[in-house]
Amino acid sequence: MKRHPVAVIAGDGIGPEVVAAALAATSAASRRFGFELDVERLPYSADHYLATGETIPDAAVDHLRNDVDAIFVGALGDPRVPGNEHAKDILLGLRFRLDLYVNLRPVTLLHPALCPLRDGPSGPRTIDFAIFRENTEGIYVGAGGGLRIDTPDEIQLAEEVHTRRGVERIIRYAFEWAKAHGRTRVTMSDKSNAVPAHRLWGRVLAEVGSEYPGIEREHRYVDALAMELVREPERFQVIVTQNLFGDILSDLGAQLVGGLGISPSANLHPGRAGLFEPVHGSAPPMAGRNVANPFAAILTAAMMVRELRHLEAAAALEDAVRAAVAAGATTPDLGGRLGTREVTQWIVERLSSR
Ligand code: NAD
Ligand code: IPM
Ligand code: MN
Repeated sequence: MKRHPVAVIAGDGIGPEVVAAALAATSAASRRFGFELDVERLPYSADHYLATGETIPDAAVDHLRNDVDAIFVGALGDPRVPGNEHAKDILLGLRFRLDLYVNLRPVTLLHPALCPLRDGPSGPRTIDFAIFRENTEGIYVGAGGGLRIDTPDEIQLAEEVHTRRGVERIIRYAFEWAKAHGRTRVTMSDKSNAVPAHRLWGRVLAEVGSEYPGIEREHRYVDALAMELVREPERFQVIVTQNLFGDILSDLGAQLVGGLGISPSANLHPGRAGLFEPVHGSAPPMAGRNVANPFAAILTAAMMVRELRHLEAAAALEDAVRAAVAAGATTPDLGGRLGTREVTQWIVERLSSR
């Protein structure tokens, strides 16, 4: 039987609850399809940071780089750590240090009732696009700093970094994905009318895009794209953009298809172990109340299982979530009356019974 070492960082807030749900669903799928995850739980979290002063040690990063097939993260962020130091080191730190330059955030409407928009010109909405967020550059590099802090003359600087190599590899990944998934249009988004540095993206889009004659390429300024995603989301297939815009657009996209409670993501670098996490955060007010929607985490597990090449298991996990939505077996954010554990139980039973 195929076994996969998988490291799990449950993290903060609702992280541990949704991770428990994702692991239960994944176990049901792996039993049915004949593989096994050897789960190793790592303690890195706000609790761990507050107790020890340690965010994530270098040795753990090396271990994650060398010894596992996948990393699964719940969520990080805690009001007791207002500077978010631990999340920066753990979440952003792993994305950067493992060079997981692709942040894939699918936006797929699993049931028409989940879309908050009125019907479109041709009836109920059908939304199915993927956001490719550049994950190692942009304004997230942390270049900059403050001067004259806490005086009336305070200055804060934050520099954006866009490298030709970095821009090229994410745009190329988006085109390759489009080709592999039968998509015919790639939309690149930037703010080059205000930020000249973003023109690099347009030049690279033209260059890389010309290698994919079957795929139309287009450009949207990010403000206009935000508008159009609400007006006519069905026209988008693949969106590729820089780190910050991808962060913002992925929450907008999430809400188009039911919200953060149902939106998965994967941080990837071809040939390496990926890091899989829901798009949502730790939602501190929901923590410990059995109300968090586990679907985002379960769909994230499906992405992980697909990367591990268990395609049937991935599809079964997705089908189970789709079926739960159709049956109204959902948490309150999707209009249901079940708790996190009850929804998870429903999914596990469905996966075990066929
Ligand atoms: P959040 O995603 O945690 O929550 C925002 C809102 O989305 C919640 O109030 C809730 O209404 C809804 N929501 C999120 N997840 C849900 C779920 N599973 N089920 C039902 N509803 C859900 O964003 P926030 O409140 O801006 O951030 C809270 C903390 O999480 C902050 O510390 C932030 O930095 C952190 N954060 C972490 C990650 C991550 O670990 N990947 C992502 C985003 C935010
Ligand atoms: C996300 C989150 C993170 C990000 C935060 C927690 C740093 O919002 O994964 O979308 O901005 O990337
Ligand atoms: Mn975000």
